[in-house]
Amino acid sequence: MKTTFSVIKADVGGWPGHAAVHPSLKEIADKKLREAEENGLLKDFYVASCGDDLELIMTHDRGVDSTEIHSLAWDTFCEATEKAKELGLYGAGQDLLSDAFSGNIRGMGPGIAEMEFTERKAEPVIVFMMDKTEPGAFNLPVFKIFADPFNTAGLIIDPSIHDGFIFEVWDIQEHKHVFMETPEEMYDLLALIGAKSRFVIKRVFPKKTSKLVAKEPVAVISTEKLYQIAGEYIGKDDPVGVIRAQSGLPALGEVLEGFSLPYLVSGWMRGSHNGPLMPVSLKNARCTRFDGPPRVVALGFQLKNGKLTQPVDLFDDPAFDSIRLEAQHITDYMRRHGPFEPHRLPLQDMEYTTLPKVMKKLQRRFKKIK
Ligand code: F6R
Ligand code: MG
Ligand code: MG
Repeated sequence: MKTTFSVIKADVGGWPGHAAVHPSLKEIADKKLREAEENGLLKDFYVASCGDDLELIMTHDRGVDSTEIHSLAWDTFCEATEKAKELGLYGAGQDLLSDAFSGNIRGMGPGIAEMEFTERKAEPVIVFMMDKTEPGAFNLPVFKIFADPFNTAGLIIDPSIHDGFIFEVWDIQEHKHVFMETPEEMYDLLALIGAKSRFVIKRVFPKKTSKLVAKEPVAVISTEKLYQIAGEYIGKDDPVGVIRAQSGLPALGEVLEGFSLPYLVSGWMRGSHNGPLMPVSLKNARCTRFDGPPRVVALGFQLKNGKLTQPVDLFDDPAFDSIRLEAQHITDYMRRHGPFEPHRLPLQDMEYTTLPKVMKKLQRRFKKIK
């Protein structure tokens, strides 16, 4: 049986500032998706939030890029925006870049991670939601999960994953994509995805030798870069990802282990700073200190005939305390850099900049160095 797993998210208003999502927006999303479930459009759903992003987790049988599913998400975000305006929430409707929905939500602001696959006998699926960062923040953990034997022991000792995986990488500047196989092309893959503001992992596929159905993804990441959609920096591209686990795939614990390093990602404060990605529970998915630090939440489901179990809040575990503590030390250290790189992003990557104005003011005072 084939199921489509769709996660569509948007920031349609913050509470307060860009810290969190107000419960009334989640209530609206819950009501809209429940109606769609009753009408038979959705098989199941779960509404969550991470920082200021409202996250719609949906299962159905309409395939990816379904007009009905995308329009349901769009209408939900529009209705939530109305509520956000009524309550005076911050930046109401900020990620909805267009007034008119034309059949597909791609390119309109919200982030989308969707995949259609044949359900296995038991299908563990993990939804990762990040705030105050960009799609390339998934490159490092997804690489570690599916290609690094120091993370995923199964790549060495489990015959069902020993052959490796296929990565689909998008060049989000040139709008091109390439498929690369690991372990054979591991070094070439790393040469690309280390440049995470340009090359992003979009999907991972099993190899032909796998027990899983070839050409059906085992992981998918949202890759919307809002500033490229709008032609300027507006809205935010905080990403989401969906990863399947176990039986011919990395185990759940190997998937989570990919997040055991609070590595530096960009997108913190004004989308213009690097900071450590901190794995947190849902209740701690609020961006406070310096509007951050960037956070990631993991919700684990079992999927059966399109139905979801209640999620387990997977980073709500003392086993991740030491990683959070390390993230806090890195936060202190990075903050002490103030306006200096590499805490502040290089000029071309900053979402906010006063440099053109400063340069204009100083134009006449700049003299040639002899
Ligand atoms: C938003 C974000 C925040 C804002 C910052 C300034 O997701 O990352 O750090 O960029 O709070 O926001 P404005 O310009 O709305 O005052
Ligand atoms: Mg916001
Ligand atoms: Mg956000």
